[in-house]
Amino acid sequence: MTSGLVKVKEGTTELLVPESFSRKGPGTRTGEVFYNRQMEFGRDVSVMFGRTAFKEGQAILDGLAATGARGLRLANECGVRADFQLNDRDIRSAVLMRQNADMNSLGHVKIHCRDLNGLLSEENYDYIDIDPFGPPVEFVDMAAQSCKNDGIIAVTATDTAPLYGSYPKTSLRRYGALSSRSPFAHETGLRILLGFVVREAAKHDRAAEPLLCYHSDHYFRLHVRIRNGAARADAAIKKLGFVRFDARTLDRALVQEREKMGDAGPLWGGGLFSREILKGMKATGDLGTAARCSKMLEVWNEEAAGPALFFTMDELAKHTKASPPKLAEFVDSLEEIGAEASRTHFDPKGLRTDLPAKELLRHYRSFARK
Ligand SMILES: C[S@@+](CC[C@H](N)C(=O)[O-])C[C@H]1O[C@@H](n2cnc3c(N)ncnc32)[C@H](O)[C@@H]1O
Repeated sequence: MTSGLVKVKEGTTELLVPESFSRKGPGTRTGEVFYNRQMEFGRDVSVMFGRTAFKEGQAILDGLAATGARGLRLANECGVRADFQLNDRDIRSAVLMRQNADMNSLGHVKIHCRDLNGLLSEENYDYIDIDPFGPPVEFVDMAAQSCKNDGIIAVTATDTAPLYGSYPKTSLRRYGALSSRSPFAHETGLRILLGFVVREAAKHDRAAEPLLCYHSDHYFRLHVRIRNGAARADAAIKKLGFVRFDARTLDRALVQEREKMGDAGPLWGGGLFSREILKGMKATGDLGTAARCSKMLEVWNEEAAGPALFFTMDELAKHTKASPPKLAEFVDSLEEIGAEASRTHFDPKGLRTDLPAKELLRHYRSFARK
């Protein structure tokens, strides 16, 4: 084995990674080829997604591949014969990716050592994965052009603080949208990122349609389908809006016009998931984080059709000064009175419901008294 490298296994794929790899917490730039074990869950999700979304013969690119962890797992574990390609502008990454590809008998996987935007300006792909350090903004425009009609772009963003509302001006500069702090700021952050991708695609008369968009640990992750057509792009733009939130009444809504400064947006107001994609995703036992994947799939399925902007049990408890009941029992009680209700993956104490804040608080008070 090359010195300074250790062998790890994710799913059924073996990888040589730098010895000093980050075992937990957000990945740090160490001057070596990047690898973060904590992202295994995200890569397991990519494998589940690829197994249901990829088709034979497609051109599939991991654009910022580092050790090749994600792209090689897609090539090795999705069971699809396709043109898998991996790219990283760092020559040490390219060398290591080749070694890792050969170690898994993936000699057919192509390795590029290019600036990603340069590569995207010359080639077209059915799937483009963008997993950068921090914000993905510099790559989305080219990806939106390079992606084939009906293809997919997957985007990671780890610059969570601006998107959560801690740095609204940074969010405005990067994403052209103001972020704001609120109990549901993780959802707002994801929707700002999604709104940005929708606008970048629309510049080229293309629509970005969400397939699987989630928040996890210290990052946001999107998978969107890119479809040609100015009318489709216009329809996607129509789903952008602003968050109206009143912390005194807990009233929240997505509205078309910004009502006061400080309201977050513009951001995506539509759905975050495709029911069909979720139906096809299976948390099989070969995945290292299968139990977590299975739980996550359950919650994503529950919340897929729910309204935007969740509530938290903590804010309901604080507002009513009544201690919170069990979330599952409270969700059931909302369904019993005919409301739409579900958990949400954004927060273990979060719930989605179509009840307006006033009615939700009334129901909460009477439920908590029982
Ligand atoms: C966060 S790492 C990718 C992690 C990887 N996807 C994984 O799952 O382990 C980002 C990588 O992007 C590469 N990179 C940064 N800017 C680039 C650019 N403009 N073109 C190509 N590669 C780039 C870096 O060298 C680094 O290896």
